[in-house]
Amino acid sequence: MKTRPLENFGVEVSDIDLARDHDPATVDALRWLWAEHGLLLFRDQTLEEKDIVDFSALFGALEIHVREEYLAPDHPELLIVSNLKKNGEPIGILSDHEVGWHHDQIYRKHPAVGSLLYSVKIPPSGGNTGFCDLAAAYAALPDNRKASLEGLRAMHSYAYFNKRWSEPTNDQQTAMTPDITHPLIRTHPISSKKAIYADPGMTAGIEGMPEDESAELLQGLYEWCLQPRFMYDHEWQLGDALMWDNASTMHRRGEFDPTAERLMKRTTILPRADLAVPF
Ligand code: OGA
Ligand code: MN
Repeated sequence: MKTRPLENFGVEVSDIDLARDHDPATVDALRWLWAEHGLLLFRDQTLEEKDIVDFSALFGALEIHVREEYLAPDHPELLIVSNLKKNGEPIGILSDHEVGWHHDQIYRKHPAVGSLLYSVKIPPSGGNTGFCDLAAAYAALPDNRKASLEGLRAMHSYAYFNKRWSEPTNDQQTAMTPDITHPLIRTHPISSKKAIYADPGMTAGIEGMPEDESAELLQGLYEWCLQPRFMYDHEWQLGDALMWDNASTMHRRGEFDPTAERLMKRTTILPRADLAVPF
């Protein structure tokens, strides 16, 4: 296994076959790289659905996403992200439009610690996935600004995200995804690094703060985070697998030509039970 830094943050891991290299030493090394760098890229992978699930499960229990209409029929641990349709119905979530900055599942009580996205079909251009390193953005804040954020809690809402960037959930899914609050600054369960834990897509406000003050605080924070030095933009190749850390990064997706086909398969990795609630 070899590593090479990506631009600004994240690492590409090469000389590895995710369908086979599951020995404990490799998995341990990957777990630390993932927590330390926030983003791992594996290129030229040939993975069946079962391989994606088996590899992801080496890092934690896998979440069955509430959007059951977009799960892979034979592997419910896989969420299909696609603009493709079957019998006139979308087979996946997020279609071909822009998707704003978010953390996967920040709106859950026990949010995912990671996601792995594998590319099966990609458009000739567009549809890049951008990442922002919120641990680096936090670390670079001046001390007085860090102190001013201490103890704050942010409110997150899947409904808020869906209104702008996706489709509404059905009644049962809505009942399963109530709004929730988590610490605005969280500690990573593996690396112990602190990171900003809020995003423009899913964070509806700061708990107990007047709306205009909360909006101003969050806006200022996002402007700080979205500096080019904290960002990596991924241009997909077929066979890429990207595994990101949902505790210390947020991501977005660019739009692409709706007549082009894009098909990605995603797993969602949960943290160890004793570290599952953000702290
Ligand atoms: C996701 C997601 C972005 C993309 O799967 O969580 O945000 O590039 N996908 O498809
Ligand atoms: Mn996402």
